[in-house]
Amino acid sequence: MTKVLVTGGAGFIGSNLVIELVNKGYQVTVIDDLSMGIKANLTEVWDKITFYEHDVCDHAFMHQILDENFDYIYYLAAVSSVADSVVRPYETHQVNLESVVDTLEYLRVRDLHPKKFLFTSSAAVYGNYPELPKREDSRVQPLTPYAIDKYAAERYTIDYGTLYGLKTVAVRFFNVFGPRQNPNSPYSGVLSIVTKCLLDDEEFTLYGDGSQTRDFIYVKDIVNALIFISEKQESNDVYNIGYGHQTALLDVIRQYERVAGKDLEITFADRRAGDIAESLADVARLTELGFKPQWGLEKGLEEYWEYIK
Ligand code: UD1
Repeated sequence: MTKVLVTGGAGFIGSNLVIELVNKGYQVTVIDDLSMGIKANLTEVWDKITFYEHDVCDHAFMHQILDENFDYIYYLAAVSSVADSVVRPYETHQVNLESVVDTLEYLRVRDLHPKKFLFTSSAAVYGNYPELPKREDSRVQPLTPYAIDKYAAERYTIDYGTLYGLKTVAVRFFNVFGPRQNPNSPYSGVLSIVTKCLLDDEEFTLYGDGSQTRDFIYVKDIVNALIFISEKQESNDVYNIGYGHQTALLDVIRQYERVAGKDLEITFADRRAGDIAESLADVARLTELGFKPQWGLEKGLEEYWEYIK
């Protein structure tokens, strides 16, 4: 039986991934300290997984788990909020970089060879440098503790492949939305906040004029891409995961209003400091690998609304 480890498996993307892996019949172990994730995200698969409520920074604990010799390791555990990383830079560093390097190092010294070690990074590594679309070899400009550690951990992930023969891959998420995304912070993904406002008939604050664009991607396409990439032979590379389409924030809100059959009450406020005007992934590398998204923005919004309403 295929054995899989998912760190951060109770979080937004992690839980969606765990559910799909369980549906594929894999034996899934989840490590999550519930600092961002919640057990309720895993309710539907709870009886089928092994769950450890534990911090990935506890190296001795991680080593014991890694000795179980997994076929696939998906590394999603992280301080996942950029704002949080700015408030807690050193803790972020321990979680977002040190724990990853320690895991890679343990695999190396113990001569453990998962079929793939997959690390999840972010479009945040590209920063504000105005060049679109973002290719994996575009200039990076990590501007926050979050982005710096994500970028460094990507490099370690790839280098443990090229230098020591581990099969590794890193991915950069663009703007992910869908079920189980927590809407409760102003820095939560914008579509989770829009969803909550639509549901509860609350006013939505739009920072800027709504012309800022993002490459929004539905979480089920993200999950499919993660599984697809990890099960391919190709290793030791980094992949953008987005749709390769940019949509203005106001346009995606209008589209969502049609899907929900409701109008969103919008208050406009000043653009946020550091907000990027445009974001768009070049997804040629992922497409060339053979990946095709199944959902897309419109179907993703429809399914998300169906799930939550
Ligand atoms: C996303 C990441 C961030 C990363 C950045 C790098 C998420 C949640 N955030 O930020 O960690 O640094 O990519 O590219 O994935 N907005 C509103 N009202 C709100 C919330 C947001 O108008 O209540 C606006 C924001 O100002 C922004 C847009 O919506 O212009 C998208 O915001 P958000 O979902 O936070 O994502 P990014 O800013 O792209």
